[in-house]
Amino acid sequence: MKVDVILGLQWGDEGKGKIVDALTPQYDIIARFQGGPNAGHTIEFNDNKIVLHTIPSGILHKNTMNIIGNGVVIDPVILQKELELVKTFNPTATNHLIISKRAHLILPIHRALDACYEKAKGAAKIGSTLKGIAPTYSDKYNRRGIRVGDLLHKEFAQKYNELTADHLKIIGLYDFDINEHIIDGLPYKEYEALWFEAAEKMKEIRFADTEIYIHEALNEGKSILAEGAQGTLLDIDFGAYPFVTSSNTICAGVCSGLGIAPNKIGKVYGVFKAYCTRVGSGPFPTELFDKTGEILQKEGHEFGATTGRPRRCGWLDLVALKYAVMINGVTDLVMTKADVLGIFGTLKTANSYKLNNQTISYLPYDLSEGSLEPVYEEIAGWNQNVDSIKDISEIPLELKNYIKFIEKNVNVPISVLSLSPDRKQTFKL
Ligand code: GDP
Ligand code: IMO
Ligand code: MG
Repeated sequence: MKVDVILGLQWGDEGKGKIVDALTPQYDIIARFQGGPNAGHTIEFNDNKIVLHTIPSGILHKNTMNIIGNGVVIDPVILQKELELVKTFNPTATNHLIISKRAHLILPIHRALDACYEKAKGAAKIGSTLKGIAPTYSDKYNRRGIRVGDLLHKEFAQKYNELTADHLKIIGLYDFDINEHIIDGLPYKEYEALWFEAAEKMKEIRFADTEIYIHEALNEGKSILAEGAQGTLLDIDFGAYPFVTSSNTICAGVCSGLGIAPNKIGKVYGVFKAYCTRVGSGPFPTELFDKTGEILQKEGHEFGATTGRPRRCGWLDLVALKYAVMINGVTDLVMTKADVLGIFGTLKTANSYKLNNQTISYLPYDLSEGSLEPVYEEIAGWNQNVDSIKDISEIPLELKNYIKFIEKNVNVPISVLSLSPDRKQTFKL
């Protein structure tokens, strides 16, 4: 058996959660391989809506096992809240969740550090979700992070106190008062108390060597789907550094984030929106600052699922999409939110860029370099609502042409099409 993968090809929020949930009935196990509660994966079904941050998007299906892999970073407070919410839909969710002992913990001090460093950057800030992602991964790579497995050791409190004390010394060098700092509505010290409670409660969930669990499951013929967070253009190596997140969001992240060998990777589903969005700072070549951008934001309800921030919007960037397909070895494309484009008579896609008066068809090292301008091609839109279509044969000719046009440019088939936030509006092509 091989492990299939679902990951984002743009700047996150492509609709990965919706697609994972829709494909879950085909799999025995869903496993998150990287990122943390900076993610917000929305699932809509039977007039319900839920946003998941840490728990894999298979958790609403009662026969599926969900794994939080070693590559993920976990805030026990956020995980606990999320699990309580999930249990209102799936009361046995705790029994369908396994956490890797090797996953690192986001401490309250990591959240404070995130805010402290962002404040110090001023206008150059990354636009972090302030969930403590970069400081936690920094400690991981600095070989002093605290892992889920440490929760079971008697030295845990000492490790916690030492690491926190060390970071407090650093914070003392900045214009940042920890005693005034508020995390999710609570003063730092109160959040810390809540964190300890949640960390204790977390022990009700099964901790395991998930790499071995996955290996044995594969040998038993079980089917596994790996769920990515963020998107390829936010990857720590291949995104527009430093305006990226702090993990490998790409397919290679599945191997290190779950302990799966490269030759065990099967299908790679690359999810992309029929246009582009981005939250936070950093270059975005096809960003629209005009009325069209506003329409995309309004029609697409483009507000961050984790922070509520408005998402920046623009036309589909095929140069960036081709790059993402290349980096991930995408075998199957999944296009979401094509319904949002239903109000346009004409659509545009960027097929190349102009950089310093030269035409280039690749993503340059520095996207903010010189005078990078997208070169657009126009294509007819379908100019009608498609979000209540019941059968794929009903889609308008212009939408079929848009699909063919993208497939021709990117050289990978679009095999799944999503036409509304609802689970049901997901079509195989
Ligand atoms: P994720 O982070 O990749 O899981 O995506 P988010 O949940 O952050 O953002 C995607 C948003 O688009 C959510 O509000 C989804 O409910 C919604 N969505 C997903 N697919 C579609 C679609 O095909 N059409 C529309 N209109 N909305 C969609
Ligand atoms: P999902 O999984 C969209 C962005 C932030 C910021 C940058 C760094 O829902 O697609 P971080 O908190 O990681 O230090 O922020 O990355 N970002 C996301 N944007 N979707 C996400 O996740 C994101 N996770 C982080 O806005 O620009
Ligand atoms: Mg999201």
